[in-house]
Amino acid sequence: MAFVLPSRDPILVLGGTGKIGKRIADNLASAAIPTLVASRSGEAPSNQWLTGVKFDWFDKSTWENPWKAAGEHAVRAVHIIAPPIVDSFDLMKEFVDMALTKGTRRFILQSGSPLEAGDDKLGMGLLHEYVRKLGTEGKADWAALRPTWFMENFSEVQSHIDSINNEHRIYSATDKGQVPFVSADDVAECAVVLLTQPAPPHTEYLLVGPKHMTYDEVAQIIGELVGKRIKHDHLTDQQFQDRMVSLGMPEDLAQVLAEYEHRIALQKERHSNETIQNLLGRKPTCFRTVAEKVKEVWI
Ligand SMILES: NC(=O)c1ccc[n+]([C@@H]2O[C@H](COP(=O)([O-])OP(=O)(O)OC[C@H]3O[C@@H](n4cnc5c(N)ncnc54)[C@H](OP(=O)(O)O)[C@@H]3O)[C@@H](O)[C@H]2O)c1
Repeated sequence: MAFVLPSRDPILVLGGTGKIGKRIADNLASAAIPTLVASRSGEAPSNQWLTGVKFDWFDKSTWENPWKAAGEHAVRAVHIIAPPIVDSFDLMKEFVDMALTKGTRRFILQSGSPLEAGDDKLGMGLLHEYVRKLGTEGKADWAALRPTWFMENFSEVQSHIDSINNEHRIYSATDKGQVPFVSADDVAECAVVLLTQPAPPHTEYLLVGPKHMTYDEVAQIIGELVGKRIKHDHLTDQQFQDRMVSLGMPEDLAQVLAEYEHRIALQKERHSNETIQNLLGRKPTCFRTVAEKVKEVWI
């Protein structure tokens, strides 16, 4: 009887210690898939399936580390999170080109709902266009995940945690705009499907949660769960941008983020679809479920 041994070739997760990457790595390890967890720290949870690799977008001498760590094995797929700068395309293109020369074919991009393929506001829109072209030419497999805002921003982004805990406030420039917040758990599970499925995806996935919510409603739910009055403070775009810069974000990136918040205020983020249901075979997670699970962080 013929049988196929599971591949020992690892999957590379860039940003492997971040909100999405650590969840992807957890999921891959649970499925007994060897995984290279790349970040500047090079740290990985202690797990036989996970190997930490030092990787810094701004230090090209580290770019080959994942293939060195893979040794005799091929790196069979890469999950890409952009470097935290506006003009990130040239770096990412060079990295993808290098990965292709090493025999890696599949690239799963972590993009975002406002970024169409070819949008040059951030490098990931251009990378989306680039890998799509490589796919058309038969040189690479690809998918672009375009999630909306993560539910876990409120529990895992330090500036939100601090303002909720210290000021009982959530700051945004979204006004009464609605967002179909999506769970980072769901986004990561979708990424794992696309990293591991045999068939090349060759398409994009707009990932949204089950309900359109304003930041007022988010503040209300968190307040109910922790027994405090949490308020959403609407900032002007300029105030929001200044706040991001004061928290350490580069000016040009803060400006793009402020523009994206403004899109929400204009009700341009009110997407609905069945993409998560179709990819995962279950409904997307709702905000209250996520918030209930992590509420200790706000107490
Ligand atoms: N937050 C949202 O609501 C949202 C929504 C849609 C799309 N997105 C997209 O998702 C991406 C962010 O993902 P995330 O939330 O998982 O990120 P995150 O939690 O901020 O984590 C960032 C990861 O990247 C690593 N990293 C930072 N600087 C690096 C560098 N110079 N070289 C190599 N690795 C570096 C970090 O580890 P080290 O610090 O150890 O290097 C960490 O593993 C962004 O591209 C964003 O546009 C976010």
